[in-house]
Amino acid sequence: MTTPIYYVNAEPHLGHAYTTIVGDALTRWHRLLGDDVMYLTGTDEHGLKIRQAADAAGTTPQAFCDMIAPKFADAWSRLNIANDDFIRTTEPRHHAAVRELLQRCYDAGDIELDTYSGKYCVACEEYFTDEELLDGDLCPIHKRPVDHFEEENYFFRLSRFQDRLLDWYAAHPGAIVPEFRGNEALGLIRGGLRDFSVSRTSLDWGIPLPWDERHVAYVWFDALTNYLSATGFGDPKVDYTTRWPVDYHLIGKDIIRHHCVYWPAMLMSAGVDLPKGWAVGGWLLVDGEKMAKSTGNVVNPLDLVNTVGVDGFRYYVLAETAYGSDGDFSYDGLVTRYNADLANNLGNLAARVATVVEKKCGGIGPAPRADSPLAEAAAAAYAGAAAGWDHVAPSKALEATWSLIRATNAYLESHEPWKAEPGPDVDAVMGDALEALRIVTVLAWPAVPATADAIWGRLGMSGSVADQRLPLAATWGGYPGGTAVTKGDPLFPRIRS
Ligand code: ME8
Ligand code: MG
Repeated sequence: MTTPIYYVNAEPHLGHAYTTIVGDALTRWHRLLGDDVMYLTGTDEHGLKIRQAADAAGTTPQAFCDMIAPKFADAWSRLNIANDDFIRTTEPRHHAAVRELLQRCYDAGDIELDTYSGKYCVACEEYFTDEELLDGDLCPIHKRPVDHFEEENYFFRLSRFQDRLLDWYAAHPGAIVPEFRGNEALGLIRGGLRDFSVSRTSLDWGIPLPWDERHVAYVWFDALTNYLSATGFGDPKVDYTTRWPVDYHLIGKDIIRHHCVYWPAMLMSAGVDLPKGWAVGGWLLVDGEKMAKSTGNVVNPLDLVNTVGVDGFRYYVLAETAYGSDGDFSYDGLVTRYNADLANNLGNLAARVATVVEKKCGGIGPAPRADSPLAEAAAAAYAGAAAGWDHVAPSKALEATWSLIRATNAYLESHEPWKAEPGPDVDAVMGDALEALRIVTVLAWPAVPATADAIWGRLGMSGSVADQRLPLAATWGGYPGGTAVTKGDPLFPRIRS
């Protein structure tokens, strides 16, 4: 599983956090299934955009990258991201992989020298045709003027790959999810493919081409190769195919062309297997605009964590927007969802279960009944969550998980065990509720891992949620009964909006 490697020309923002949290939650879900997942993220550190940012900061590109890259790594550790590796494109292992891939494509005859002149957006690191530009020669993404560039470049002959790409996608339906994003990629391929430039002579901040050191590799060829670098590609001592091909490239819709058109063609040329899948997210919009450094409407995820906590923030981005579609970020939306789903639903369920067990069951959890009326809701929640994660639809997976929380709260409200005398009837209801909460805890862990771990402990369960294996851990009857149940501090104190 991979995220894009983020540009280090500025600090991590909500959009980066969004993609990285989706990848983390998917990784965790697959680990619960017993899959051996390697989750990769990192930073994109070469190119003109970074050189300009370093110049503006009055420092060298390397020193600049060394200052910003750790801010990404720190943000991910703060957000409880379980990445296994963090690749930086300035690392030697990446240089080796880029040179290997370039050489293979060159040897295959798919990289050739040519002269290029065209209109270039530095923020995108991409050339645009006149038809693609907005009125006044503005970049369609950044809405700012493009530059006119003319230089001798090496070109990757993408135009030769149209049929091969179309055939490959026809033979691999569903490789790109959601489907409508896959159709966008096919539209780009059918619309005709232009060769793209893979080198610069006007820039020194990059990886020299192995056969012509006057040129450095241009950003996209360099950046895309990170996914291979992290598998050991380019290191003759390592068998990179133990980790390649990748199962999911998670990307935003802004980089479909590079990932779903350029990248598979590069791999075909080099004789490397293609990815098994791509999962394309929409944009989080702020006031209807794409949030981006260059637009100036940047939301820092760590500020939001101060309000709703790490899990409150993770839950919001996963639950609020259907992955693939654009979503609107708003502070009010964040607080509303936190109060409704976390404070009033999950937090309330955990608190009332512990309170009633303490008051009516002597603090020791009764065992669930095999024929509990909640068993069916639990089975449905698991089926829905599994389908949601399987289709890279976190909002659906969480909707299914929260349906069990709602069913359990409703079950408690209809029996009102807090009003009843201690005895077998209360024990029966509370055993059922404890078991439902245990299953919720496992299913919610990919989204809200720290909270799930805390509830697991409060239920008196041994081991950790990470050690549970699905589907067994979601099967009714796993709560043994007889554990000391503790209440602890409120998990999600209500926020006044
Ligand atoms: O494109 N909403 O890096 P980048 C949702 N270095 N997701 C967003 C977002 C938003 N407003 N803004 C950014 C690059 N993202 C290249 C990638 S990969 C080989 C090289 C997320 O810093 C989304 O995943 O501009 C998007 O694709 C990515 O950040 C772009 O990050
Ligand atoms: Mg960008």
